[in-house]
Amino acid sequence: MRVLVTGATGFIGRALVPALAREGHTVVAWVRSVARARDRLGAGIETVDAASGRGGLTAGLERCDAVVNLAGEPLLGGRWTPARRASLHQSRAGVTADLVSAIATARHRPGVLVSGSAVGYYGDRADEILTEDSAPGSGFLADLCRDWEAEAGKAEALGLRVVLVRTGVVVGRDGGALAQMLPAFRLGAGGPIGSGRQYLPWIHLHDLVALVVVALDDDRWRGPVNGVSPKPVTSRDFARALGRALRRPAILPTPALALRVLFGQAAAVLLASQRVVPAALERLAFPFAFPALDAALADVLGGAERRGV
Ligand SMILES: NC(=O)c1ccc[n+]([C@@H]2O[C@H](COP(=O)([O-])OP(=O)(O)OC[C@H]3O[C@@H](n4cnc5c(N)ncnc54)[C@H](OP(=O)(O)O)[C@@H]3O)[C@@H](O)[C@H]2O)c1
Repeated sequence: MRVLVTGATGFIGRALVPALAREGHTVVAWVRSVARARDRLGAGIETVDAASGRGGLTAGLERCDAVVNLAGEPLLGGRWTPARRASLHQSRAGVTADLVSAIATARHRPGVLVSGSAVGYYGDRADEILTEDSAPGSGFLADLCRDWEAEAGKAEALGLRVVLVRTGVVVGRDGGALAQMLPAFRLGAGGPIGSGRQYLPWIHLHDLVALVVVALDDDRWRGPVNGVSPKPVTSRDFARALGRALRRPAILPTPALALRVLFGQAAAVLLASQRVVPAALERLAFPFAFPALDAALADVLGGAERRGV
């Protein structure tokens, strides 16, 4: 298949692109900087420059059979001022709307759109068990995810199969939340976030990439899919597991107040509780390589230690 990927240069995209290539697919990366894309994905990567506008995107889509949509500005890249909220929204719901408009005008439409979303869809839900059928939550992130999914969902009316991956915290090498947590944990200064009682759904990058690759091919996949491991843990359990993996104490909590001072309302990303379970993945018998956190962390950190990161 020929697959157009947005967000290809990101933490998830950089793992997805080679995985698609290994499956024999050709990737066309829609990027804001061709130079950065070549640097991160290799000189041979086919690109569509975002600066070429709707026309360029439509032309790039012409010969594509599938689209994976992962673009989005980092949620924790700064305080959520009104301008930043607009930019977080534009880079997800806005980019997705542009993508679907371009698909509508393409002469040859792709058959499937696998589009990013996040467990933020569910809001802050204490220890309620959340499946794909649970109602959406409230707050900026939940609204953002709902709008993002709604824009992607419009591709159904164009005849595409649409899969919405509500992703948890992705655990992988060289990026994501773990890269931000590791310096403190390596010093023995890490620990639970806030009360530590909030549920923190997570997934190994390997499993996330694998499920996107399967979703492109398997017609049974459609609609929302929780991209989370079958064993959700609390923030305290996560900190303990990371401490064990690094053989460091991990008991120093980061107080919620400090996070609110540091990140403002964006602290909600770290403090919300989402006990999300992968009901759809279990129905589809998705074979998790890393269902349990200890093994996932051992895999990720083992590689990091070997490379001296
Ligand atoms: N990593 C996680 O734990 C996690 C969890 C849940 C959901 N997600 C979602 O999954 C998606 C990918 O995550 P990631 O961790 O790979 O993110 P990432 O490393 O921050 O990469 C984001 C990608 O989006 C592109 N991008 C950023 N701002 C953009 C804009 N204004 N317009 C167009 N493209 C833009 C970036 O391209 P440039 O090269 O041009 O900067 C980059 O390729 C994001 O939407 C994220 O919210 C991630």
